[in-house]
Amino acid sequence: MLGLSFCPTDLSELLKDGTKESHDRAENTQFVKDFLKGRIKKELFKLATVALYFTYSALEEEMDRNKDNPVFAPLYFPLELHRKEALIKDMKYFYGEDWKEKIQCSEATQHYVDRIHHVGQHEPELLVAHAYTRYMGDLSGGQVLKKVAQRALKLPSTDEGIQFYVFENVSNAQQFKQLYRARLNALDLDKSCKERIVEEANRAFRFNMQVFDELDKIGKSLTEEAQEGGLPVHDGRGDLRKCPYYADKLGKAAPGCPYHAAVAMAKQPLVQLILAACVAVAAGAAAWYMM
Ligand code: HEM
Repeated sequence: MLGLSFCPTDLSELLKDGTKESHDRAENTQFVKDFLKGRIKKELFKLATVALYFTYSALEEEMDRNKDNPVFAPLYFPLELHRKEALIKDMKYFYGEDWKEKIQCSEATQHYVDRIHHVGQHEPELLVAHAYTRYMGDLSGGQVLKKVAQRALKLPSTDEGIQFYVFENVSNAQQFKQLYRARLNALDLDKSCKERIVEEANRAFRFNMQVFDELDKIGKSLTEEAQEGGLPVHDGRGDLRKCPYYADKLGKAAPGCPYHAAVAMAKQPLVQLILAACVAVAAGAAAWYMM
């Protein structure tokens, strides 16, 4: 498989070049940047996994529908690529056996899902754009994300919770991507159809970015402690964000914890001077009274 050479009219090249800007933009969304830095709260990671579950359920349903359609058939790799079963394992790990009752499809994810179903049922020649955008990404950057998530969320090294990122039946991702590119190039498509596929792949990137932006917004309203169950009782020291009053206000107004306000005020030099003077006066008064 190695040593293949591609020409500029090959679909794999058109897709790679034609989505480069979208890829850069996707990599630079706040959600992805935070994720790469390991700044992801567990609850948000769970919601991202939920979004993936709905997305891949739709994608794989449409791919199954089109598995014998020549516009898609050469890209049908259920054993190697399909993620739905892996995502169900992740759902069970995060939400328990009754995971189905506990999750719902978000608005941004629903738009993406609707488009996938439309494509699968009415413009199946564009399905390849959706498969390309997700699976090629998962086999590339997805592997970085797996390690980041495992470390940041302290997930077990047995890969529980991150089955999505584990491609059990792909022993060499690089080689598999080459096979996938060769299959893309072997599709019998005219120039305008190839252009529509590139356009659709950019659309798929946009749907992904909308999901990321939605997650980013949700992330800002979450606190690690609130979702881990049980708020910590703070001692006035350490991370202000651990204060339940602060947590309540996070992302809204300024922190409103009376304890932190008092502690912060007491740290002001002028206030300290006044406090010291008060203590001295009180001590003097007490001493005078005792005499
Ligand atoms: C976490 C941020 C990301 C990183 C670090 C990353 C990294 C990479 C890398 C290194 C490649 C090149 C792989 C190769 O040529 O063998 C790649 C390719 C790709 N990525 Fe990403 N990526 C990220 C986010 C995304 C997102 C959000 C998507 C789409 C939802 C995506 C879709 C793709 C696709 C479709 C390719 C294949 C390009 C091609 O060879 O045609 N990536 N990514």
